[in-house]
Amino acid sequence: MRRFLVVGHGANTDGDFRLDDLPGTGGRMDIIAMSVSSALFLSHELRKEVEVWLVLMGGAPHTLKIIGSEARYLFPDERNIAGMIRTNLLRHREGKRETPGIYVSDMDFREAVESASEDSEIFYLKEGGKDIRSANISGNSTFVLGDNKDLTPEEEEMVEKIGARKIGLGKKSLHTYQAIVVANYELDRREESGTGAP
Ligand SMILES: C[S@@+](CC[C@H](N)C(=O)[O-])C[C@H]1O[C@@H](n2cnc3c(N)ncnc32)[C@H](O)[C@@H]1O
Repeated sequence: MRRFLVVGHGANTDGDFRLDDLPGTGGRMDIIAMSVSSALFLSHELRKEVEVWLVLMGGAPHTLKIIGSEARYLFPDERNIAGMIRTNLLRHREGKRETPGIYVSDMDFREAVESASEDSEIFYLKEGGKDIRSANISGNSTFVLGDNKDLTPEEEEMVEKIGARKIGLGKKSLHTYQAIVVANYELDRREESGTGAP
């Protein structure tokens, strides 16, 4: 299992953002939506072995889990994904069931990382980390990424405390959704050559 845990530091958690203003009223929900698309979508299908956990913190913290093997009615465009996020935040608030493959909770960053560490090894994707090409990555893995901002020093301390290893994707600073594409590519190549985890 491959999991991407993306922190949306300013991402709207009330579900009252406008789909035509994801960067503004959404609190950079554009980055979050593009990250989901990059993590889960192949050309004609969803990646069934991938999960995305979105830790949204531009309000009372909420964590949305999107499970590739279970998700339905999800399309790769930013607006559709942001709409699904909004719908599920609102359903959670109203005490209604989420749409298939999406689970909303009130977990904050610490709780989400601790929960992810129960069934996977945690890797912190960070410029300057150990090159992903030479890193030992096997078994269930969670890759933690910032949004337009890196993790705060407090968040870094939390991931370090649970033993996360820093992994780098080259010297250039990428957008979150670009970093996910590169990580998926590198991990796919390792898997195809039989040297790494899915
Ligand atoms: C836009 S970057 C965050 C801000 C960026 N560090 C800067 O100085 O502008 C978004 C996230 O993508 C990941 N990332 C970007 N480039 C990376 C790289 N070369 N190696 C590993 N992770 C990277 C990190 O998790 C980072 O927090």
